[in-house]
Formats: sequence, C-alpha cells, structure tokens
Amino acid sequence: MDIASLLPMTTSRLSLRLFTPGDADDLYAYQSLPSVARYLYRPPHTRERSEEVAAERAAHTTWCTDGDKVALAVCRRDEPGVLGEVTLTLADTRAAQAEIGWTIDPRHQGHGYATEAAAALAAFAFDTLKVHRLYARLDVENTGSVGVCERLGMRREAHLVENDLDGDRWGSEYIYAALAADLLAIRAGRSDPAVGR
Ligand SMILES: CC(C)(COP(=O)(O)OP(=O)(O)OC[C@H]1O[C@@H](n2cnc3c(N)ncnc32)[C@H](O)[C@@H]1OP(=O)(O)O)[C@@H](O)C(=O)NCCC(=O)NCCS
Repeated sequence: MDIASLLPMTTSRLSLRLFTPGDADDLYAYQSLPSVARYLYRPPHTRERSEEVAAERAAHTTWCTDGDKVALAVCRRDEPGVLGEVTLTLADTRAAQAEIGWTIDPRHQGHGYATEAAAALAAFAFDTLKVHRLYARLDVENTGSVGVCERLGMRREAHLVENDLDGDRWGSEYIYAALAADLLAIRAGRSDPAVGR
C-alpha cells in the first residue's frame, strides 16, 4: 500500500502530512537537541543528518514489508512549520504488528500535540492499515513518553530491565501496547474527540 494518497490526516488542531526536503530546518531545530535525543539511544542529529532524514522520509510512503517506516510531520493547521513527528514502523507483516513513536519540538510540548497526533495515527493504523497490535518501546525514565502512552490508553505489557546500553548507562525499557479491539478505548482516551480524517 502507498499511503501518500491517504494524507494529510487532520485533527481539530493538527495536520499530519508527509515530510518534504524543505522541512530540514524545522527537523534540525529539534533533532539536534540533546534533550530530544536523550532517550532515543542516538546522538543529536547534525544538520546534514536532518537533511538526509527529511529527504528519506519524503520518499518513503510504502507500507508493505517488515521494516517499512512511515514518518509524518506534525503541523498546526493554522500555522506554517513542523512541530514534531509521529512514526509508524511495520514490525511484522504476517502478524500485523507495528511500532508507534513520537517526538515534539520542546518549544511546542505541553499542549497535548503528541497525544492528539498519536491518537490519529493509531486510528489510521488500526482502521486503514489493519494493524492488529500497536506497541511503543520507551526508556523507563522517559516520563513524557510514558504520559503519552497512558493518555492513549495503551497497556504497560513489559518492563525490560537493563536491556540496552545508553552510553555508560544501562537503559531499561517499558513496552506499552494496544490491540485493534482496544480502539474504542484509545479513542475514548484521546485528547480530542474530533480526531479523524
Ligand atoms: C514524549 C514527548 C513527545 C511528549 O510530549 P508532550 O508535549 O509532553 O506530550 P503531549 O502532547 O501528550 O502533551 C501532554 C502535556 O500537555 C498538557 N496539555 C495541555 N493541553 C492539552 C490538551 N489539549 N490535551 C492533552 N494534554 C494537554 C498535558 O497536561 C501534559 O502536560 P504535563 O506533562 O505537564 O502533564 C516529548 O517529551 C518528546 O518529544 N520527547 C523527546 C523525544 C522522545 O523521547 N520521544 C519518545 C521516544 S519513545
């Protein structure tokens, strides 16, 4: 499936659209921050890396095989610019398992944008892409991300103890998940009842 024709998705405040190469400045503004990279198990992006990421994301719109990743720019409907991103990765085609992720520029955090965008993407994953189980992996210290999972109504399924190395720190992770059958609960838990295309 090519998802390009299904975009943008809109919520009451947001538009979720494909990235374009012209988004590199907005991407770099938050991807370069140590506070944003803190729990992503990677160094802050360089300007060049953000340019590559914008171009790669603009070109990748297929949802067919394991590892396919769709990244959408989170924008306000009434203002130009990119506030952040939500991502969906096809982890297992046969079992219809997908991983969801989110990042919001710190200048725009604290307004419910991550939860609103993720709720719309979760509904899209279940309704349109026919995902059976949607999960998120996050560092246990990432309280902002824990909050998004809880607001979405996802279940905490696992606590992996020191399963990764983050520099010289042992990282521990939570796995949160929801099934397609939980969609009503996720919708009930979202910040904006008007979320939809
Ligand atoms: C994880 C991350 C996206 C969370 O961002 P966020 O803005 O805190 O999350 P939300 O969009 O759900 O906003 C929730 C906050 O907005 C507030 N808020 C304001 N208006 C709101 C509304 N209309 N609806 C919901 N929440 C609202 C909530 O009270 C909450 O504030 P609190 O944290 O002080 O309780 C952000 O911390 C981030 O980008 N981190 C760096 C990247 C990262 O670690 N990504 C996850 C990897 S697993």
